[in-house]
Amino acid sequence: MLSALLDRTPTPALAYAQCWEDADVLLEALDVQPGHCCLSIASGGDNTLALLARSPQRVVAIDMNPAQIASLELRVAAFRALAHHEMLELLGSLPSRRRAALYRRCRGPLSSDARAFWDARAEAIERGVGSAGRLEQYLTLFRRRILPAIHPRGRVERLLRGGTRAEREAFYAREWDSRAWRGVFRIFFSRAVMGLAGRARSHFRYAQQSISTQLLARLRHACTALDPADNPYLQWILTGRHGPARPFALRAENFERIRANLDRLEWHCLRLETILACTRPATFDRCNLSDAFEYMDATNYEAALRDLLDAARPGARLAYWNLLVPRSRPASLASRLAPRPTLAADLHARDKAFFYRGFVLEEAL
Ligand SMILES: C[S@@+](CC[C@H](N)C(=O)[O-])C[C@H]1O[C@@H](n2cnc3c(N)ncnc32)[C@H](O)[C@@H]1O
Repeated sequence: MLSALLDRTPTPALAYAQCWEDADVLLEALDVQPGHCCLSIASGGDNTLALLARSPQRVVAIDMNPAQIASLELRVAAFRALAHHEMLELLGSLPSRRRAALYRRCRGPLSSDARAFWDARAEAIERGVGSAGRLEQYLTLFRRRILPAIHPRGRVERLLRGGTRAEREAFYAREWDSRAWRGVFRIFFSRAVMGLAGRARSHFRYAQQSISTQLLARLRHACTALDPADNPYLQWILTGRHGPARPFALRAENFERIRANLDRLEWHCLRLETILACTRPATFDRCNLSDAFEYMDATNYEAALRDLLDAARPGARLAYWNLLVPRSRPASLASRLAPRPTLAADLHARDKAFFYRGFVLEEAL
């Protein structure tokens, strides 16, 4: 009876077809070593794969959304079955007219759930797997319908060419940061509009700050203090392609190292809270937690952190982001978990996935 009900439950939509957290920040923060066991929120899959490049003993990927697990599975299959440039074509990082054929080469080893998920999304595959999530669709809408009304293509290209810091600041102030830009940006990235079209309303449940004000300030930082020419996340938002500066897992130099370690990766469609509550003895050395804690209220966050510390080995590192909600170790866990604020702040200043208000790095004592 229960299985019949479950069988009819539609798979939730894919929320993220890419990881929108900077893998370079993650890898520097976690400093994964051979022998480490890593826990990683799957999301789009890229950052979990990036961890494999450091040859840990094991990576356990989890996500509560089966569509995200299907996203990770397809990437794993693409690493196994395709050449590097073919994988980039399938994901949409390079133009392609043969994505359906590339998918057919990957689909054999997929689990039946992941195969059914992608078989039902032929159009999304044709467009490039990396634009198939709700967030990417929202950003695509912004790029196609909103951006051209404010900034013509040539100006977007000029922004993305970067330059010296002085040139970037002058260009941003003089040509980009107009009143019209700020006005439209504030509307499109307001809580109300994002709730309607992009992010689930539940994501804002514990948020207190104006999201568009925060995003505008962080965008200025990404376009002036950092160089847009080196930023695959910004390039994708404004052009629909990563450009030559790709996220870590998609760079040619990391392809073989990741592929060689795919057997060390396992994945489970589970809530973080569930795996933490049942992982004994202490197992994990490194944890990529995305910004999952801000989807929990403060009490559940603290409970999850306690369980995580029971599941973590001494010296374990926890990396997570804050987008809308400030989450960091509560005082009640001071004897078990130490913040690493200096490195975290330095990494946050360099975070190419610029939208987060904070990056947190903590170490189990
Ligand atoms: C936390 S979301 C955030 C992605 C991105 N940082 C953003 O803000 O747009 C990333 C992934 O975490 C998963 N996730 C969120 N809470 C989770 C939980 N408690 N257990 C397992 N997965 C979770 C979601 O399904 C999603 O695929």
